[in-house]
Amino acid sequence: MQQDNLEIPPDHLPTRLWQELTRAPHDRHHDWRTPILATQGIDQSGPQARTVVLRHADAPLWTLRVYTDARSAKCSELVAQPLAQLTFWSKRLHWQLRVSALATVDFEGEQVDAAWEHVRQSPARADYLSALPPGHIQTSREPVAEGAKDALRGHHLAILSFKVSSMDWLALGQDGHRRARLTSDGLLAWLVP
Ligand SMILES: Cc1cc2nc3c(=O)[nH]c(=O)nc-3n(C[C@H](O)[C@H](O)[C@H](O)COP(=O)(O)O)c2cc1C
Repeated sequence: MQQDNLEIPPDHLPTRLWQELTRAPHDRHHDWRTPILATQGIDQSGPQARTVVLRHADAPLWTLRVYTDARSAKCSELVAQPLAQLTFWSKRLHWQLRVSALATVDFEGEQVDAAWEHVRQSPARADYLSALPPGHIQTSREPVAEGAKDALRGHHLAILSFKVSSMDWLALGQDGHRRARLTSDGLLAWLVP
């Protein structure tokens, strides 16, 4: 188990965490590329958690970005209740990071257009072109055809932006674990793991 976790000076910790977060979207093998996004379900459906791909991390602004289908449940959930949590686990670092954030959902605009320009050139474009919305009940196991696209935009991509308010870092070590809470206004508190 990695031991240098325990040697990070407290004032380096935010920088170290954002270093990993900004690397993850560009590294297919980085465990932090696929965090779990938790939201509050609608209509008493309870907490909802699912894997997403981290597309962008901005260290100075403490923001994270994810792409999704504008018709997915997570969009309506975040519009109704924007408090969300993203949980990351790295097997390499033996680090868990739980990020609390305020989400905004962009269905259109320059950022969405730019993201679509990029995504449409990749195989992932199919994720935003399906005729039926995610979660729709299917009558057969046939793949859903493309079509019935958003009349104006020709796709269903939406951007979820997360303004991080605090992070809960847990580092596992053979000689003991460490845990800290960091906030966007620069506070750091050590916690009992
Ligand atoms: C490895 C992996 C990556 C995924 N990435 C995304 C993603 O970036 N955006 C997304 O909307 N769904 C992604 N999904 C699918 C979601 O986990 C989820 O099944 C889907 O978005 C429906 O979620 P919802 O109905 O709660 O909105 C991914 C699933 C896996 C297994």
